[in-house]
Amino acid sequence: MANSKTPIMKMETLAVHAGRRSDPATGAVTHPIHLSTTFERGADGQYPLGFSYSREGNPTRQALEKCLAALEGGKEALAFSSGLAVATALIQGLEPGDHIIAPEDVYYGLRQVIAGVFAKWPLDTSYVDMTDLAAVRAAVRPNTRLVLIETPSNPLMKIVDLAAVARIAREAKAISVCDGTFTTPVLQRPFDWGIDMVWHSTTKYIGGHSDMTGGALITRFDNYLFERARKSLMFGGAGPSPFDCWLTLRGVSTLPWRMRAHCGNALAVAEFLQRHPAIERVHYPGLPDHPGHEIASRQMLAWGGMLSFQVRGDRQAAMKVAARVQLFTRATSLGGPHSFIEHRASIEGLGTKTPQNLLRLSIGLEHIDDLIADLLQALA
Ligand SMILES: Cc1ncc(COP(=O)(O)O)c(C=O)c1O
Repeated sequence: MANSKTPIMKMETLAVHAGRRSDPATGAVTHPIHLSTTFERGADGQYPLGFSYSREGNPTRQALEKCLAALEGGKEALAFSSGLAVATALIQGLEPGDHIIAPEDVYYGLRQVIAGVFAKWPLDTSYVDMTDLAAVRAAVRPNTRLVLIETPSNPLMKIVDLAAVARIAREAKAISVCDGTFTTPVLQRPFDWGIDMVWHSTTKYIGGHSDMTGGALITRFDNYLFERARKSLMFGGAGPSPFDCWLTLRGVSTLPWRMRAHCGNALAVAEFLQRHPAIERVHYPGLPDHPGHEIASRQMLAWGGMLSFQVRGDRQAAMKVAARVQLFTRATSLGGPHSFIEHRASIEGLGTKTPQNLLRLSIGLEHIDDLIADLLQALA
């Protein structure tokens, strides 16, 4: 029987076993969904099993947290109701006037959190091109507390040197936090490169089936931002439902195998698009001419299931391609079994820096021949 105390094992094994064990009450092999909101005190008034009230802690959530901490190679994990609930809890831990360094092409929802939810804090944020290490270094201020990283970035698939940015953050005495949503611990392990914390939208590859919303924050060591995020989770009520935790755990079991298939399909689609005369540019770190290919080859195990491409022509040309697909679904989000196509500039709205002729693909688990056939007819 395996549980989270099992010594370091390979990713495929951890994905099936970490944080879980057969239910001692029934022998059930899959971890139960604990819906109870409240837990019984012992005669001495204590909570002998560690749970008192489900907002603060729940056995299904705890299993997920242990599993994600093990997969990431971290000390501890917290599970949230969405990826952006993680970002909100993290930023809530900052003091008014603190300075954040974030990528200029950071996931647009995070910009909304900083500029919208925390407008009154106020916070000081520098958005920089993180592929330019001199620019990251120049952005550091005495009040820099948080350095946010996203690699590959969304949707331009820029690659950031994790070890180099972690070093800059450490020298600035700031905490570095990497968004691991696109890569999952299967493809990239930020802790190996000195990053302090990792956050995920588990809504994507980790859940893996486009049927739940969740997030997670994992830390390599005890720190005040993690503790404050824990308070936001427990007392601010940002926790996921037990059912969503269970769905996430079910998804995790197949994560390493799904990632292989996503990556294989995405590389084949990227190579196909690069050869197609209607395409101006393909953004995929697995292509040798991608500016971040060398760093990606060093810090990623494979190049992921996400890519974007620019159609020759303008916004209308890109929209026409998106309108013609039959197998790809026109939808936002990513990381599920279905392949998605999306005109990113439309969803990002006013002020977007995403090129208007760019389409983003989340490559799913369909057969590669069918995906390429669909793109071929859409580009005809
Ligand atoms: C890279 C990335 N990070 C974070 C998020 C936010 O996650 P959620 O939608 O679960 O709040 C998303 C959502 O699309 C994302 O793509």
